[in-house]
Amino acid sequence: MPRHFLRDDDLAPAEQREVLELAWAFREDRFVRTPLSGPRAVALLFDKPTLRTQVSFSVGVAELGGFPTLVDGRLAQVGVRESVADVTRVLDRQVAAVVWRTFGQDRIEEMAGVSRVPVVNALTDDFHPCQILADLLTVAQHRGGLDALPGQRLAYVGDAGNNMAASYLLGGVTAGMHVAVAGPEGYLPPADIVARAEEIAATTGGSVTVTTDVRAAVTGADVVAADTWVSMGDEDEATERLAALAGYQVDGALLAVAKDDAILLHCLPAYRGKEVTAEVIDGPQSVVWDEAENRLHAQKAVLTFLLEQR
Ligand code: NVA
Repeated sequence: MPRHFLRDDDLAPAEQREVLELAWAFREDRFVRTPLSGPRAVALLFDKPTLRTQVSFSVGVAELGGFPTLVDGRLAQVGVRESVADVTRVLDRQVAAVVWRTFGQDRIEEMAGVSRVPVVNALTDDFHPCQILADLLTVAQHRGGLDALPGQRLAYVGDAGNNMAASYLLGGVTAGMHVAVAGPEGYLPPADIVARAEEIAATTGGSVTVTTDVRAAVTGADVVAADTWVSMGDEDEATERLAALAGYQVDGALLAVAKDDAILLHCLPAYRGKEVTAEVIDGPQSVVWDEAENRLHAQKAVLTFLLEQR
């Protein structure tokens, strides 16, 4: 059976470290490994909007020696025109891996249950695990290497019930980090994610904090992270979300309570004046462009890892 990357805890701590080491190597030499030479194809299937993910997977697959084949979810209509299982059976006869951005986690789990090739989660409603690998690489890059990751204090502020919060919790503690997420009542992570993160943290030396107190979460943090208040698929709730999350903006005053050398992460797209101020995201502590570039290196690494597990 192939290995898949559907959620952050699909990689055990040692495996996450292996992937991050590979990502580090790809950042230093973009052509250090070419597991897709042939070229073998990788399907990139998008049911939601994309910029960074489409570009970084397309470029990444090509740099691995392969061929990215883009599948437009609006045309394929997975689960509407034909079932997830039938789509998967067509794709896995032709491609070396499938990368999918979709809505429910159940959809990608269904695909993985059928697929004879690795399936990679390029964002679902529940997780964004490729982004967190890129974020960990970015923290390492700005803290002197991968060995610096354990013990780093990361504070995520905003919609703490969304995919990014869940992935920071699981992926962050897998790296041995202290992860705090802060959001208002109603925008906090599901209990099963918190419990799973605590379980992993107990083995890695990390820790989990869930709070409505944004200053408490950010005080003394090494890394501060923000994300949109209105995730893809939540557009109908935009008005109530903007009202509920108004006190959870990352601005200069909030960033000032983090460590002096704290870095700011944002997976983008950013809405300046909403979840983050322009002063902060365009300021000296922001590393969001490194973070966006690191999607490329991290995803090449996870694809290489999964392809070699077979
Ligand atoms: N939470 C955001 C992340 C965008 C990359 C969303 O799901 O839209």
